[in-house]
Amino acid sequence: MLTLPRKYHAASIWLLYAVGLVPAAWGFWLGATGRLPGNPVKEFEHLLGLWALRFLVATLAITPIRDLLGINWIRYRRALGLLAFWYVLMHFLTYMLLDQYLNFPAILADIAKRPFITIGMAAFVLLIPLALTSNAWSIRRLGPRWVKLHRLVYVIAAAGALHFAMSVKVVGPEPWTYIGLVILLLLWRPIRPRFNRWKRRDDGRPQFNRA
Ligand code: HEM
Repeated sequence: MLTLPRKYHAASIWLLYAVGLVPAAWGFWLGATGRLPGNPVKEFEHLLGLWALRFLVATLAITPIRDLLGINWIRYRRALGLLAFWYVLMHFLTYMLLDQYLNFPAILADIAKRPFITIGMAAFVLLIPLALTSNAWSIRRLGPRWVKLHRLVYVIAAAGALHFAMSVKVVGPEPWTYIGLVILLLLWRPIRPRFNRWKRRDDGRPQFNRA
């Protein structure tokens, strides 16, 4: 398998951050120059929400990709998770500033009374400690508690997909795709130890040597 030389690892992670932010910058530019169709604020809000969900799914897909295909992209997981966080934050700020004009009573009423917004808000709040602890210092400080804390990403992705499905009048193929992907990624967790045991037995080599 073609592997990226180690000397390019850091640069490739920065490239991922830069490329990952392109959809937000592009959407903002289209909106600012009047080229987003329909309601530009809604369009921009939707674009940010969708990319947030895509980055969440990509973050969760890193481990199954390594298990099933032997491709080790673990080095990109933190960047993907942080991109998801930045997109949720921008999605939330667009909602607060451009959609609701910082009308706090209306925002609070929305969070309390519209279940899809309550769920989105809960996912966003849960994402904050993960973003704050996604650094080497926190990993060292928290030890095994870090792993437990970061399992919340499964709950967040499930809540994000549910929030998407509940935000639309008719649940079409797009929300179903995300729901399906999140279900598959959730199911992989209990299957994974058995699969890796089977794989080790299969070739007699420790699984981590294959990456
Ligand atoms: C993990 C957190 C979140 C994710 C992954 C997420 C994702 C999404 C997605 C995918 C959509 C639908 C986009 C489309 O229709 O194409 C959406 C819509 C929306 N989200 Fe979020 N969201 C999150 C959190 C939030 C939060 C915190 C708020 C506000 C408090 C929020 C408010 C909204 C609103 C107002 C809509 C649009 C509904 C409409 O069409 O009027 N979301 N979100």
